[in-house]
Amino acid sequence: METDQNKVYIVGNWKMNPATEDDADTLFDEVENDVYKLTGDAVEVVVCPPCLFLPQFDPEGKVRLGAQNVFWEERGAYTGEVSVEMLRRFGVKYVIVGHSERRCNLGETDEMVNFKVRACLAGRVRPILCVGETLEDRQGGHADEVIVGQLDNALRELSESEIAGKLIIAYEPVWAIGSGAVPTTDEVMGVGLLIKKVLSRIFLSRQIADEVPLLYGGSVNPQNCRDLVEKTGMNGLLVGTASLKAGDFMGIVKEFGK
Ligand code: PGA
Repeated sequence: METDQNKVYIVGNWKMNPATEDDADTLFDEVENDVYKLTGDAVEVVVCPPCLFLPQFDPEGKVRLGAQNVFWEERGAYTGEVSVEMLRRFGVKYVIVGHSERRCNLGETDEMVNFKVRACLAGRVRPILCVGETLEDRQGGHADEVIVGQLDNALRELSESEIAGKLIIAYEPVWAIGSGAVPTTDEVMGVGLLIKKVLSRIFLSRQIADEVPLLYGGSVNPQNCRDLVEKTGMNGLLVGTASLKAGDFMGIVKEFGK
């Protein structure tokens, strides 16, 4: 099993950006050049570009490649979809699964998220499973219930040995994404503890609950990033907007690795 405990994961989710392959190259190169200057491997830096740009980037470099989505079948009549194996052949090591933009805008259900998580684990790429409540859930006092439900459904039919050293969970409150609003560090810590409790219950193991890396995502920037890890017990961050400027992204990375 990999030892994830002391690593900080900084994952950039470029979403549907930038507009051209040249801009993608420039952004990736700027990040990679700076990551090469870091000594040690306290930080695992992951970049998730639109999958069309993946072949441009060095899969063996210090910046790990991630994808923003995947389909669960291996091949066949699934128009528009891409399989785990197709991604893996371009060096993809991580896949974001169940991002709220896919759940809310594209109708991705808990069942689909479960199929995707299982396909990633079976195909030896690490799923970054996103969970989080909407503003409506939060205002209605249902946030915890929503998060627990998303976890229970996404992790159906999986065993401890299947997720060990592979699964990553990202807590991304929907209302914090791209809004500039962030929960308090106490709130993030509370959700982290809730996720661990659910993992212990599902897998009947305290150990696995402590080993699955937990990320926070939603309006992370170079100013708030340190507290969102150090004061919350999180193991890293999922970064959207700030990952589109190399200076901002590396400002975050450098808070955790010199
Ligand atoms: P944001 O996006 O950093 O722009 O809030 C985070 C995400 O959607 O993963």
